[in-house]
Amino acid sequence: MKTMKAKVVVLANQKGGVGKTTTALNLSAVLASKGKKVLLVDSDPQGNVSSGVGMFKASEDKNIYQCYMGNSDADASIQSTNLKNLSILPASIDLVGVEVELISLKNREKQLRSILRPIRDRFHFIIIDCPPSLGLLTINGLTAADSVLIPLQCEYFALEGLALLVNTIRKVKKTLNHGLFIEGLLLTMFDRRNRLTYLVAEEIQNHFGDQVYKTVIPRNVRLSESPSHGKTILEYDKNSTGAKAYMKFGNEFLRRTRGK
Ligand SMILES: Nc1ncnc2c1ncn2[C@@H]1O[C@H](COP(=O)(O)OP(=O)(O)OP(=O)(O)O)[C@@H](O)[C@H]1O
Ligand SMILES: [Mg+2]
Repeated sequence: MKTMKAKVVVLANQKGGVGKTTTALNLSAVLASKGKKVLLVDSDPQGNVSSGVGMFKASEDKNIYQCYMGNSDADASIQSTNLKNLSILPASIDLVGVEVELISLKNREKQLRSILRPIRDRFHFIIIDCPPSLGLLTINGLTAADSVLIPLQCEYFALEGLALLVNTIRKVKKTLNHGLFIEGLLLTMFDRRNRLTYLVAEEIQNHFGDQVYKTVIPRNVRLSESPSHGKTILEYDKNSTGAKAYMKFGNEFLRRTRGK
């Protein structure tokens, strides 16, 4: 059998509530539904990816915090989900303190990369969800990844802070992870009835051109309901406009990623 080496993609944007977790969950579900072996890494103390796949309480010894602390490893901590081909490395609330605990470590930015290295050959994709900050957890995500996927909410302040994010990506590329690149920008929570949405989308496209995915994710209440049921949108309501949008996005993501 041909050995795999996962493509590692990190979802990052220090702005809160822009669709990082929703995209991590549903892109992973779509890729898994297409037969790709996917690992979701919940590197956010909020644990929204973990609960989003129905893991409302993570095991106390098998989670990413214990991996960061060197008490466990990815192999022992990865768990299966209700979806075929989709596994998760869950978060636990202890992760809140990890940034402080990491500070004293040598190679503190490279911990996640080391955690994931031994299991990269078991997946086609590893998708990392990050908290809304540019702290050490996000830096670890950027250092562990091949590329960054940036979700942007179609609202007036979407571009605010984006320069700082792009700068941070550039810095990580220069110092910690030379191969890092921007996989693409995804417009989320698009509201067809709101003229401002179109203007914001246009401005982002003017700035970033081809880096912006053609697929936009509409605002869809089913997408916001599904996590509370511990389900991805494919399990919760696969006929919803949200599910259709993420399936379309998954196709575009795969098409583009093949060319890179
Ligand atoms: N396309 C959408 N339509 C409707 N609601 C959405 C959509 N995308 C995300 N949401 C909802 O908006 C909120 C924020 O989304 P999400 O949690 O994915 O953002 P985030 O960037 O991960 O947030 P944080 O920065 O707090 O981690 C959530 O309640 C989510 O269910
Ligand atoms: Mg989130």
